[in-house]
Amino acid sequence: MKLHLASWPEIERYLETSKGIVIPIGSTEQHGPNGLLGTDALCPEIIAHEAAEDAGFLVGPTFNVGCAQHHLGFPGTITLRPSTMIAALQDWIGSLHRHGFEKIYFFNGHGGNITTIDAAFIESYAPYSFDDMACPYHLKLRNWWELNGVLDLCKSIFPVGEGSHATASEVSVTYYAYPEAIKDVVMTPRIAPSDRFRDAADYRAKFADGRIGSDPAQASVDAGAKIVGAAKAALIKEVQAFFAD
Ligand code: NI
Repeated sequence: MKLHLASWPEIERYLETSKGIVIPIGSTEQHGPNGLLGTDALCPEIIAHEAAEDAGFLVGPTFNVGCAQHHLGFPGTITLRPSTMIAALQDWIGSLHRHGFEKIYFFNGHGGNITTIDAAFIESYAPYSFDDMACPYHLKLRNWWELNGVLDLCKSIFPVGEGSHATASEVSVTYYAYPEAIKDVVMTPRIAPSDRFRDAADYRAKFADGRIGSDPAQASVDAGAKIVGAAKAALIKEVQAFFAD
């Protein structure tokens, strides 16, 4: 079930059977010459929606703008400051808890969000700790590529040029779900450089077309279908265990 397509009485009835919800969370940021700006939000959303259809759990709206200041040198990128994102996440968590949700599983698609989501969790727990009370809800963060077996599968499909930003795997996942958005682009160089980065100017100077270490021209619908299938199965297992815990 998808929260944004449900009515409030349906959510009220769902809460009588489960206190758990999955929130896809990502970013709106450049993903190289052939990757979609929504890639990091779309990947967890695509996997979560398919898993929810099979397993019957509830998926909330996608938190689709994250921490992407380093991508601001490329048009279309939208970012939150970490402090804004921490405040917004606390309000999402507070709203869900207000209605009785006790297990909130954040399913992430953007590496640049990890430290900020962790900080938001700590901000949420701190008031209970100061008041010597047990926090009445549990929060969990999982990156989609870290689900059991998924990274190994991605490496086996793309042994060369998987890279770390605008990866062949993540572009494949979006092409599988949105084949009408496939872009045929020749990459130069074929495999992008790899390096560390700081701000948007530094990033743009080091990575001219936005990619890091990747050759996403290899992306395909077929690869995306395999990755989504494996991720979906692993997600169902993990969410069911978290909700039952
Ligand atoms: Ni990405």
